[in-house]
Order: sequence, then C-alpha cells, then structure tokens
Amino acid sequence: MKEELLAIRASFEEELSQAKSLRDLEDLRVRFLGKKGSMTKVMKGMGRLSKEERPVMGALANEVRETITKGISDKKEQIENEQLEARLATEKLDVTLPGAEIPRGGRHPLQIVIDELEDIFLGMGFSIVDGPEIEWSKFNFDYLNMPPEHSARDLSETFYTDTTDGEEIVLRTQTSPVQVRTMFKQKPPLKIISPGRVYRADEIDATHSPVFHQIEGLVIDKNITMSDLKGTLSLFAKRLYGEDVKTRFRPHQFYFTEPSAEMDVTCAQCGGKGCRVCGNTGWIEVLGCGMVHPNVLRECGIDPEIYSGFAFGAGLDRIATLKYGIPDLRLLFENDLRFLTQFQ
Ligand code: DAH
Repeated sequence: MKEELLAIRASFEEELSQAKSLRDLEDLRVRFLGKKGSMTKVMKGMGRLSKEERPVMGALANEVRETITKGISDKKEQIENEQLEARLATEKLDVTLPGAEIPRGGRHPLQIVIDELEDIFLGMGFSIVDGPEIEWSKFNFDYLNMPPEHSARDLSETFYTDTTDGEEIVLRTQTSPVQVRTMFKQKPPLKIISPGRVYRADEIDATHSPVFHQIEGLVIDKNITMSDLKGTLSLFAKRLYGEDVKTRFRPHQFYFTEPSAEMDVTCAQCGGKGCRVCGNTGWIEVLGCGMVHPNVLRECGIDPEIYSGFAFGAGLDRIATLKYGIPDLRLLFENDLRFLTQFQ
C-alpha cells in the first residue's frame, strides 16, 4: 500500500506540472480525489491492513491527500494570477485615445411646434393644462353639446375601450374634453391651452392617421366677446407665422360653440398669391373656434348669464408638416432617425 500511495503522489506531481488550465486542475481533482479516484480506491484497502500497519498507512495517506489538495489549490491560484496579469496587459487603458462620441438627441418636430405654441400662449397669459387620452364618452361628447346621433360617436369613427358603471370610455377624439374638465375643476376666469394626442378610427395615409395631435384653448370670463376671440387668435397667428400674415374667419358649425368659425391664414409658401401648398386659394386653414355654447357652460356649472367665453382647437400635425414642408404625415410617427435628425 505504501508503494501505491507513493506512486500516486509521484504521478500526481508529474501531472500537476503539466496542468495548464483550471479545467485541467478540476480534471486532476476528480481523477485523484473523486469518488472513483485513485486515492479513494487505495483507501478502500485500509480495512485489510493489520492493526499496527493501519495508523502508519493512514498517516501517509493523509499526507498524500494533503499534498494533492494543496498542490491543486496552489496551482489554481497561480493560474488565476497569470490570467489576471494577461488581461491587465491586454486591456490597458489608453487615456490619449479620442472618446466614443455619444449621439445627441433632438426634439421631435411635433414637440418643437408644441413648445413654440406653448411659449406664444404663455406670453399671452394662458396656462397649460393636461387631460387624459382615455376619456369618458360623456366628456368627449355629451357635455360638449354633441347630439346622441352625431356621426363622430359611431363605432366606425371612435375607439371605444370599455364601459365602467354604465359609462362608456373612449380614446378621446378631440382635446375639447379638457375644456369640460377645466370648467368642472376651476371657477372663471379661465385661460388655458391643452396640447395632446387624440384618436380617430381613420385609415393611415399621407394626410390621415388614427393618432394625431391637437391643441385646445379656452377663455372664460365676464364680458368675453367675439372680438376677444379674433384679437387673440390673430395675434397668435402673427406670433407663429410672422407680422405680415393675414387672418380670416369663415363661419362654421361646431356643437360646443355658437357662433362658430374656422380661421385661415395667408399661405406662408406663396404669401397669399396661390400655390400648390394652399390649393391655389392663398389661404391655409389653421383652427376651429367659436363662442362657448351656453349649454356647455351650463352643463359644466358656469352661469351663461354671467360668464361668456371662446374656445379653439387646432391640429398640430398639420402645423408641423406645413412649417417644415413635410410631404407625408406618416413621417412624424415612424421614428426614422434619418428623418428626425434633420430638425436639430
Ligand atoms: N374639437 C374640434 C375638432 O376636433 C376643434 C375645435 C373647434 C375645438 C372649435 C374648439 C372649438 O374648442 O371651439 O374638430
């Protein structure tokens, strides 16, 4: 048995000197110390030894086992150190190399337009309020004086999401419900704008998208008249398009305003002479507006005998596409960096 143990030690030392990797070492451990390893095999023979021999062989076996365990762990440490050295040598940091450029983001063209409009209206004393995109149907339609048979309520035009406690929920089709929320929450005087996303069940093409953007405005106070509306919105048009721009108000019909109008501005492309952009009319339609309907005021808890006001709503996507000459609405929503980086 003594010879066997010594032979094991000799062959271990020989093999240890050949081992080059952590894997080799694990291999060695299994072959010498594992369940079926050579040391285990020898130890099984202990039982056959005489009483006198057993402690002597036991001591020698322990010594050999110790040699193997220590040999493996020393070599392991050595290999790990070498690997670390090698890595440190190859991964040396050259502080003189130029840094990797971090690409700088920019604002989306729509956001640029929203920021610009917010600046203009803040400058005229408006505050900015936010409203939910998932909205009660009654806020989107009923409180705005829209009749039950209005075609916009049709399933083919509006996304209905759910019904809670008998109340239908829609993806808002306009930013106008923010008017309702504002009037319920605050007492006049009110002077707010609210930009945001709106949804309609439209097909997607160059000028339509089921998701688009509007900005809503609402002014309520005593003695607000149509001339306040015209003055405010004409000034807004000048701030947005320049001092030379002219505005005109065409009669129109909305359920939540009476009288109602649409505001056009002279075409920025041709200065009003007529071109492809304005369909040869010289005018571009910018927004819908009107004096808030007494029914809307009443429904929202404001006395139309005391207060009056005006409201307006404009499509932001069209303002952006006209401003930048973007030929297709879809470009605004595709998140193509080749497009977006042109606005920095
Ligand atoms: N909500 C209207 C639309 O989506 C736009 C609008 C028109 C808003 C007149 C108003 C308004 O506040 O007074 O077509």
